[in-house]
Amino acid sequence: MNFTAEVKKATDPIYQKISKVMPEIEWSIHAPYIHRINQLKKEKNAIVLAHNYQTPEIYHGVSDVAADSLALAIEAAKTKADIIVMAGVHFMAETSKLMSPEKKVLLPDMDAGCSLSSSVTGKDVRLLKEKYPGVPVVSYVNTSADVKAETDICCTSANAVKIVESLGVKKVIFLPDDYLAKYVASQTHVEIIAWKGICMVHDQFNEKEINDIREKNPGIKIIAHPECPPEVIKASDFAGSTGGMINYVKNNQPQKVMMVTECSMSDNIQVENPNVEFIRPCNLCPHMKKITLPKILDCLENETGEIIMDKKTIEKARIPVERMAAIGR
Ligand code: 13P
Ligand code: SF4
Repeated sequence: MNFTAEVKKATDPIYQKISKVMPEIEWSIHAPYIHRINQLKKEKNAIVLAHNYQTPEIYHGVSDVAADSLALAIEAAKTKADIIVMAGVHFMAETSKLMSPEKKVLLPDMDAGCSLSSSVTGKDVRLLKEKYPGVPVVSYVNTSADVKAETDICCTSANAVKIVESLGVKKVIFLPDDYLAKYVASQTHVEIIAWKGICMVHDQFNEKEINDIREKNPGIKIIAHPECPPEVIKASDFAGSTGGMINYVKNNQPQKVMMVTECSMSDNIQVENPNVEFIRPCNLCPHMKKITLPKILDCLENETGEIIMDKKTIEKARIPVERMAAIGR
């Protein structure tokens, strides 16, 4: 793939937007892929849905929608495109398929998983339901379709408290994120029976790191994803979904901010928040980072990496996702 004059001209408006976070030499490698992917999207009536943890060349270069997992699920239901390419992880692609079963949903790397999603199976949920008969199951959207098929209602970190309270019950089974469960429990009177899954990225942050950063950067705002350990959330100024964290920065324009989450978030939003200084101890999600421009191009060109699910699973697993979408943020 060459950085020709035609590619340069077609992609220059995108580069002008992100030139502050990307050196020209790096852009010359990405631009030919970005150009071809954007051409193919038009030819095939395809869209790229990108999670906020994708790298800047994907987030700014080829995504039609870049958002948190709740907004991506809602967008998948609304789109008029024939093909959805999920620049994210496997559970996000499955969720898109559940929301739009008639569409072709492609994932550029089938190994892009999630430590939370792989921590619980449909069988585990069936056993939990036997142990706690009549207690509704609230599953984080970071779960497989098999788990969703055993679930009463899904949630994301953007609406977990609202979803739990919407059920009007005294007790719920909440899975698989133990830390998110603890965060929800701190915000509601509903009793939470939690599964012991963790996010391998957010689990790496600790309270000492947060306190050290605050000491070295007086006045800094520290904002955390609710998948972080409880003591990290306690030491932070705000907790919210990736979309919630982005809105916090946009609306408050802090002089200095630390986003206690995946590394690409700060790079992606620096572009729209040039006056905010991002302090960046962060952790990479190895699953999110499996998605690259060459893989997006390959899967769109050859229509590989299709999400295939049997009709029965789709019918069962889409119900909790639709219930969640109806309640919203
Ligand atoms: P959001 O729902 O906040 O976008 O988070 C998804 C995720 O995988 C966070 O690790
Ligand atoms: Fe899963 Fe954590 Fe990666 Fe999000 S950051 S996809 S929860 S492993």
